[in-house]
Amino acid sequence: MARTQARFACQQCGAVHPKWTGRCDGCGAWNSLIEELPREALPSGLGKGAGDRRGSRALGFVGLTGPSLLPPRRQTGIAEFDRVCGGGFVAGSAILVGGDPGIGKSTLLLQAAAAIAPLGGLSSGQTASAAYVTGEEAIDQVRLRAERLGVATSSVLLAAASNVRDIIASLDREDAPGLVVIDSIQTMYLDTLDSAPGTVSQVRAAAQELIRVAKRRGFVLVLVGHVTKEGVIAGPRVLEHMVDTVLYFEGERGHQFRILRAVKNRFGATDEIGVFEMSDCGLVEVPNPSALFLAGRPTAGAKVAGDNAPDGSSAGQVSGSAVFAGMEGTRPVLVEVQALVAPAVLGTPRRAVVGWDGTRLAMITAVLDARCGLSVGANDIYLNIAGGLRIVEPAADLAVAAALVSALRETPVPADTVVFGEIALSGDVRPVGHTEARLKEAAKLGFTKAWMPIRRGRRREQAVAAGLETAAIGHLSELVERLAPKRAPRSQPLDRRRIGVAS
Ligand code: TYD
Ligand code: MG
Repeated sequence: MARTQARFACQQCGAVHPKWTGRCDGCGAWNSLIEELPREALPSGLGKGAGDRRGSRALGFVGLTGPSLLPPRRQTGIAEFDRVCGGGFVAGSAILVGGDPGIGKSTLLLQAAAAIAPLGGLSSGQTASAAYVTGEEAIDQVRLRAERLGVATSSVLLAAASNVRDIIASLDREDAPGLVVIDSIQTMYLDTLDSAPGTVSQVRAAAQELIRVAKRRGFVLVLVGHVTKEGVIAGPRVLEHMVDTVLYFEGERGHQFRILRAVKNRFGATDEIGVFEMSDCGLVEVPNPSALFLAGRPTAGAKVAGDNAPDGSSAGQVSGSAVFAGMEGTRPVLVEVQALVAPAVLGTPRRAVVGWDGTRLAMITAVLDARCGLSVGANDIYLNIAGGLRIVEPAADLAVAAALVSALRETPVPADTVVFGEIALSGDVRPVGHTEARLKEAAKLGFTKAWMPIRRGRRREQAVAAGLETAAIGHLSELVERLAPKRAPRSQPLDRRRIGVAS
């Protein structure tokens, strides 16, 4: 038999090279090429192959309108999980759950499988309703975990396997379970491929075979995927394209809470988050994340807990902290933005940002310097989003600016105030979406004031709707003015000021 020529596939981007090189030409990654079998030598899958040999058939084109059935959904009963999936699992769909090792993927999926198991199969013919296939742990380890989670008595089918041929042989049948969890896709392998488990071609081929069976038998397939140290699911783009839904499970090491985030969803909205807390008996849903993120905050934390702060004033409060009324998908979340501004010791001021974008911080310091006459940029700046949440919304600009100015001027932002708004390079503060939802969440948590940009004509409605006192911030200098009225520079012309308090 003629020797097939070797080829080298990049494990980061999937680009194929005829020769090994230290650096991938496709994505520039170093040391990511691994020798794999050429495509011509790949078998045409594990299927019967009969369909491939039949002659070609003309496509039966149809119009865009016509009867279309909504796919049946199955809720796990874990509300935070169902929300992220867009209202439950869709029969026949493939879901990829990615996350760092030890973050709790196996725990979450075992809990979900146990929750769904007593509910019966999704499609007709399915009897058992959840199967958990582990390629990483031994049966005993999973059983121990199940016991710890208090789900040991649930009727989840458990198997330890990593050969895709065996798994498919057990699943490709009329009475396949309604939910199949594969933990993890990187440990699965096809014996028809030469490369090691975890390589791009193994991961891709294994996922393809499993997804094909899931579509044919109508069960929900959940693939657990590991995240590389660069933060992408190994075999990254390849897998994300193949599945219907991609969820990331994330969280900070030192914090108890975990966030399940949808980054792609063919059957629902993305940007939805589910919040969980890791406890000693598994993951517990957090129905009110704002309270969690604000817990431990000196004054508002006490207010949230119902402890009366003296008069809601800023007495005893630290400067450099502002509460941002943000949105995560369709859900409002309040988080605390903390800033520390200190004189730079070295020639180049230091910037350390946790949970926010460093480039955006640079932009805001530049705007504060250029448009408000402050000299924030020359200082060392440390910025932290409390609780370990990562914020990507531009609406956080104003809260970050408030924390920075408050730190610089050593004036606390009033404890009962939330802040949000997008800052333009001109220093103008632009209105952001979902104002009402943000204000309602703030009111729910005991806040009474909001510093925010307001569209002309909308102010009264919004303020009344939420029952908050709103202060319009139309330009960044108005924020500076509010935080340090005595020492604020007068570089802005007075007619720019549009401060007003609605009742
Ligand atoms: P695991 O689900 O094994 O993570 P992954 O599959 O993402 O690698 O989670 C393991 C971590 O969770 C481990 O560090 C211990 C912790 N844990 C708890 O704190 N409480 C529990 O009840 C369980 C089951 C795990
Ligand atoms: Mg695991």
